Amino acid sequence: MQKIKVIILLSVCSAVSAIFFVGQERVSALSSGPPARFSGAPGENSCVACHSQFPVNSGSGNVQILGVPANYTPGQQYPISVRVNDKEATIYGFQLTAIRSGGAAAGTFQLPMEMPATTQTSQGTVGGNPRDYVLQTIDGLFTNGVFGSNTWNFFWTAPTENAGTVSFYAAGNGANSDGMTSGDYVYTTSVSSSFASTVSVGGRVFTSTGSPLRNARVTITGPNNFSQSVITSTFGFYSFNEIPIGETYTVSVFSRSFRFNAQQVSVSQQISNLDFTGQE
Ligand code: HEC
Repeated sequence: MQKIKVIILLSVCSAVSAIFFVGQERVSALSSGPPARFSGAPGENSCVACHSQFPVNSGSGNVQILGVPANYTPGQQYPISVRVNDKEATIYGFQLTAIRSGGAAAGTFQLPMEMPATTQTSQGTVGGNPRDYVLQTIDGLFTNGVFGSNTWNFFWTAPTENAGTVSFYAAGNGANSDGMTSGDYVYTTSVSSSFASTVSVGGRVFTSTGSPLRNARVTITGPNNFSQSVITSTFGFYSFNEIPIGETYTVSVFSRSFRFNAQQVSVSQQISNLDFTGQE
């Protein structure tokens, strides 16, 4: 009876945070934000530690991590979403972390400006490794009229150095809104992102009659507002030196005397023959 009172209190007032004992650990739990270190990452359990009526990933739904780049560029910010799909659920929760091999946090999380906030961050330490988490708030439980899934949006800024492969882990909870841990389906997933090593991309620019064209402006543009420009040399050569691999770019040439068709190129290794010939 005492426990039920506590639960009701919590549902009413999100400012109250209960203290639970799991083994020797003190954790503050619950729908207002699950305790850190239950994202399903290596060394962690997931929400199924408490929401344990059904085995993890046994429900009809899933959890997805969206927006993680195949290759991250150091220091670049990426919009990330976590979506829990579960047709039976009425409220939803999640927790996500990003770690490098070895287990320590990789990059940083930023939350969107929104009222009320649907996500929050927390910290934990696993096997001596500090980790950062993003998780739902009590307002983030609800889907505002969307049925069958809930999606949370936030940002991840990649490490400023080469942190090797970064793995994202998320646990999602499709819950039945009974104010308890029973009847809820827990899902886990992970995706990874490699360090975007860079290569040079270059070639030559020629006039319509095949002579090298100097002083033409060559511009390369890519995802996330990536843009660089260079001027061709006396012999029409141009080169971009640090182009992150794993992305598709558009290269265009501007000159007073000739028009050039832009070229699309997907960069996976060094390119030295991306040539352009002008039209009158
Ligand atoms: C240490 C135990 C514990 C862990 C781990 C835990 N929860 Fe909970 N959770 C609870 C308890 C207790 C409740 C019921 C009280 C409440 O609603 O605050 C609850 C309630 C919830 C609810 C509302 C359930 C309903 O049907 O009303 C959601 C959603 C939720 N938790 C999400 C999560 C998510 C997501 C995770 C994993 C990232 C998680 N929880 C991990 C203890 C836990």
